[in-house]
Amino acid sequence: MDNRPIGVFDSGLGGLTAVKELRLLLPEEDIVYFGDTGRVPYGTRSRETILHYAAQDIAFLQQKQVKMVIAACGTVSSVLPEETAKAFPFPYTGVVAPASIAAAAATKNGKIGAIGTTATIRSRSYERAIKALSPEAEVTGVACPLFVPLVENGYIARDNEVTRLVARDYLTPLKEAKVDTLILGCTHFPIIRGIVEDVMGKGVALIDPGAETAHCAADTLRRAGMLHETGHTGRCSFYVSDDIDGFADAALLFLGQRVRDDVTLVSTDNL
Ligand code: DGL
Repeated sequence: MDNRPIGVFDSGLGGLTAVKELRLLLPEEDIVYFGDTGRVPYGTRSRETILHYAAQDIAFLQQKQVKMVIAACGTVSSVLPEETAKAFPFPYTGVVAPASIAAAAATKNGKIGAIGTTATIRSRSYERAIKALSPEAEVTGVACPLFVPLVENGYIARDNEVTRLVARDYLTPLKEAKVDTLILGCTHFPIIRGIVEDVMGKGVALIDPGAETAHCAADTLRRAGMLHETGHTGRCSFYVSDDIDGFADAALLFLGQRVRDDVTLVSTDNL
């Protein structure tokens, strides 16, 4: 039994894809979420900057006495070295391993696509993780950096012509590679899942890294005997480094619940 909250962070809204699934799987858990909305996007920055931001985000969650840290960010998960993650004095998971396991299990033709930010695709993290599981798999990675600002700015409706146009352009090489499984390798991307599905066609399995990671985190806590005691209704506290209202509006759309009263502004100067 461990009644401390679970810590989840991302550069912005994308990590809410993990929070949404965690709430369904573990409704008794309290969650502390940090969205670094003042410094999003991470995915176009250098490895050094991403690691610096990630260290600050994790330290912030630690101050909130979390029992586990989930990097619900494909970019951070891709650049944070495995040895660093293993040395953390708390359970930690990123999104790359859980999403890659799901993709390797889902593919029938062995052709897997991964889309993500520039830093994620440059790191080849998904390719390495999939090849470690299925050496025969063919992995095609495509950077889709414009999806992040489109999501952060609310261009998420399935019929949004701007996002559809960008998606058609980005996803062409994946259609040509005939992938039957596609990892939405940045946690912002499942928010525009419908558009990706329309462009790729129904036969392609789409893997949501936030959701897969929530399952993995739930298993980790269960196995370690670290779940919250029963009979409690879990609460979420959200911290963001810019524009509380913008985050609350987007979170309402995405999580389907009002979060405005539970969102606190944190200055990046204090991280
Ligand atoms: N949600 C993030 C990811 O999964 C990052 C988007 C960004 O900050 O560039 O990669």
